[in-house]
Amino acid sequence: MEPRSCPSDGAELRRVFGSFPSGVTAVCAVADGVPVGMAASSFTSVSVDPPLVSVCVQNCSTTWPRLRELPRLGLSVLAEDHDQVCISLSRKDSNRFAGVEWSELPGGGVLVQGASAWLDCSLYSELPAGDHTIVVLEVCALGADLERPPLVFHGSRFRRLAGLNSGGLE
Ligand SMILES: Cc1cc2nc3c(=O)[nH]c(=O)nc-3n(C[C@H](O)[C@H](O)[C@H](O)COP(=O)(O)O)c2cc1C
Repeated sequence: MEPRSCPSDGAELRRVFGSFPSGVTAVCAVADGVPVGMAASSFTSVSVDPPLVSVCVQNCSTTWPRLRELPRLGLSVLAEDHDQVCISLSRKDSNRFAGVEWSELPGGGVLVQGASAWLDCSLYSELPAGDHTIVVLEVCALGADLERPPLVFHGSRFRRLAGLNSGGLE
């Protein structure tokens, strides 16, 4: 998969897309003995049986072509105090893992320490979608700490959850 150049316009699209709040995940694994990974806010749960999730990756990404070759990928749901970790894991020009505490799963997936949730995944399929690729991952193992609030990304800003509205669904 060859990286393509990124389009420079689309500011209004990005602004409107950014009005939808999301969490931020880190998709990471060890390649040739070093951690490789990227921040991705496009995470979505997809299927229960089989257990599938997805992220959308820019076709110009230089990190995804490395990650997609690996047997297992760690996916961490970043916690509310992980804003600097997120910025670090999206940098183009430096060691992304400098200052990031991480651990390696037996299959080579990398998890960010203190994440709100974690998933150990393998690549299931890839679907071309415009200037992105929809990457579907199969979940091999997972866990979550619901007492550890997630980082929220909205309008190009990092935010925190404010609390409950009227309760929940259960
Ligand atoms: C909050 C945030 C969310 C991001 N979400 C995505 C995403 O969902 N998909 C994606 O391809 N890149 C996303 N990025 C950009 C990547 O983290 C990274 O900057 C990009 O992959 C460019 O680096 P690369 O060429 O090493 O892949 C996001 C960056 C930030 C700061």
